[in-house]
Amino acid sequence: MNKQQKELAEKILKLKNEKRALLLAHNYQRPEIQEIADYVADSIGLCRRAQQEKNAELLVFSTVNFMAESAVMLNPDKKVVIPAKNAFCPMAAMLPAEKVKLAKKKYPDAAVVLYVNTLAEAKAMCDVCCTSSNAVQVVNSLDEERVIFGPDSNLAWYVQQHTDKEIIPIPQRGFCYVHKLFSEGDILLAREQHPDAEVLAHPECKPEVQCIADFIGSTSQMYHHTIESPKKEFVIATETGLIDRMKREQPGKEYIPAYSEAICSAMKLNTLEKIYLALKNEEPTVTLPKPIMKKARKAVERMTEITGR
Ligand code: 13P
Ligand code: SF4
Repeated sequence: MNKQQKELAEKILKLKNEKRALLLAHNYQRPEIQEIADYVADSIGLCRRAQQEKNAELLVFSTVNFMAESAVMLNPDKKVVIPAKNAFCPMAAMLPAEKVKLAKKKYPDAAVVLYVNTLAEAKAMCDVCCTSSNAVQVVNSLDEERVIFGPDSNLAWYVQQHTDKEIIPIPQRGFCYVHKLFSEGDILLAREQHPDAEVLAHPECKPEVQCIADFIGSTSQMYHHTIESPKKEFVIATETGLIDRMKREQPGKEYIPAYSEAICSAMKLNTLEKIYLALKNEEPTVTLPKPIMKKARKAVERMTEITGR
């Protein structure tokens, strides 16, 4: 951290204590934010922490909008603020509620499982949500033989490899533009340059990338894998914020980005300055219309029931 960041960080920590607030940050946040956060995790980790949190009066969610909305759903009595109010995940926008409605009409016998990276209106129309860390478990827990799954077609492909059920992706080609940047060529080149390295990829990567990776998992699953693995070198195919965390918290191993420009601009909209202002002014708050909130909450709660946390 530079001098200016340190001063701001101190002000944030002081205010956070005074207000009994909790700062939760996703693994893709800027390193200076991760450093002062109370908790850094993947999307299910943040959901769970928000659900378990009993003492904090204010939750500052340094994430993208859908993650903060999930926190509101699980914690309707708490005030949730997001530092960058325009931090929207473009993949979530690929699945408007109308498309879910049409798919339900077309496949009335199918269950609907939506990735948490979705708009609240779409979540309100599904049976259960999932994250990248539990998508297979959620799908396999269902009675239905066919499952409408969205919006990420790469995660849908990953789930299809681990289930006997029929997965129907909606939309046909929903994707994360950051994970789409990784190519088979990047991985093959990294393998050539680092023959001893293990290759870790997020299930939002394209099938051809997933097929040549050694380990597929959510951001926190990748993080824990590098701790548990006896290997010393890792090629990482996900947003570079996770690599910042690995380098800071587990020095002594080498983490090589599979593509160094894989940066999520929505995640990076959060800054120390915006966190300070969000804490001070207790806004922008994240709120949802009651009817949507009620239905969407059921889908998120059902996910946490299935995964047992
Ligand atoms: P994780 O649940 O793996 O943290 O993924 C969230 C996300 O937005 C990945 O792009
Ligand atoms: Fe959305 Fe991709 Fe950014 Fe995750 S990395 S928030 S899926 S755009």
